[in-house]
Amino acid sequence: MARFKTLDQLEPAGQAVLVRVDFNVPMKDGRVTDATRIERALPTIRDLQAKGAKVVLLSHFGRPKGKRVPEMSLAPLVEPLSAALGGEAVAFASDCIGAPAEQAVAGLKPGQVLLLENLRFHDGEEANDAGFADALAKLGAFYVDDAFSASHRAHASVEAVARRLPAFAGRLMQEELEHLARALEHPERPVAAIVGGAKVSTKLDLLGNLVGKVQMLAIGGGMANTFLNALGVEVGRSLCEREMADTAREIVAKAKAAGCDIVLPTDAVVAAEFKEGAASETVSIKAVPADRMILDVGPATAEHLARRLEDCKTLVWNGPLGAFEVPPFDAGTVAVAQAAARLTEAGRLLSVAGGGDTVSALAKAGVEERFSYVSAAGGAFLEWLEGKTLPGVKALEDAA
Ligand code: 3PG
Ligand code: MG
Repeated sequence: MARFKTLDQLEPAGQAVLVRVDFNVPMKDGRVTDATRIERALPTIRDLQAKGAKVVLLSHFGRPKGKRVPEMSLAPLVEPLSAALGGEAVAFASDCIGAPAEQAVAGLKPGQVLLLENLRFHDGEEANDAGFADALAKLGAFYVDDAFSASHRAHASVEAVARRLPAFAGRLMQEELEHLARALEHPERPVAAIVGGAKVSTKLDLLGNLVGKVQMLAIGGGMANTFLNALGVEVGRSLCEREMADTAREIVAKAKAAGCDIVLPTDAVVAAEFKEGAASETVSIKAVPADRMILDVGPATAEHLARRLEDCKTLVWNGPLGAFEVPPFDAGTVAVAQAAARLTEAGRLLSVAGGGDTVSALAKAGVEERFSYVSAAGGAFLEWLEGKTLPGVKALEDAA
């Protein structure tokens, strides 16, 4: 039995469908700077339009904390959304509940699209408030959740509304959940995970969950230094959470018990300062000078990881291996990402990536399109890697 209902089971002709999207897009001076999240909502919008639904889009933007904050209005999204829809008009309502929303919905014809103002202008949204959810649910006959990237929030538009209307997963949600299941719930083994990023302290639950599920865990980024330090390696002036040494050793022990091979860097690119074009050199991990910091994995480590991936069937990737924003410290991430992309293209590896900086790192490596799947989600992807129940996904499963 399917775990959730999809648009294939929805016949909404002539009726209003509430679609929770994640239009929490990067914006600068009132202009959208990256429309990826808008584009990713198109398959669902198109599908519903083709079925004659009135499409009512709900989203949060930023963290206005229950107040009307003009800079956090969704109004600047109307134009890029309309452009993404090939120039079709998109209606906008100045409030997501009450008279403005109700009148705007009443004015829709089948196939038309309406965007409602920022959900988080009401504190009922984050409070998962029943009255606020009722006011939203009143606006439509069906509910579609297409916001995997917000599914870790037990907020009214994600959780309570899904329990008030017949609830379906949108195409993006469906795509995310299907790929994530193939990567970690019932993957082809061996499974590798690559986890990078600055701090172990923000990824403890994630590492703890992964060592029980994958056969190889490669650790890079600043957090590798914490592990190296815990194992007695001198990391000089590198970013390192020395107070996390016990925790790091516990994770290593847990991995060993679970048969998960933890792979740490054997060489590193070091520099005296973190800035573009800074003089850098490659050293053995056992020879990091006391006055230098590790800013990337070295070429031997990157090559080793690329080789290890050849023996794997599935890869889950979260976080860059080095300080990828500043060249040349992106080289390790780029090399390993390209190796994973080649194996994916050769049909030898299912590669799934996501979370925060990961998407920009992979885009920089030019492999975003060459991985099996790159998630649009940040925090939700991390919580999924931690093995947590995502309230938005749970609500869809309960509805099925
Ligand atoms: C995101 O951008 O990660 C999601 O839209 C969630 O936003 P939030 O962290 O403000 O809940
Ligand atoms: Mg976030």
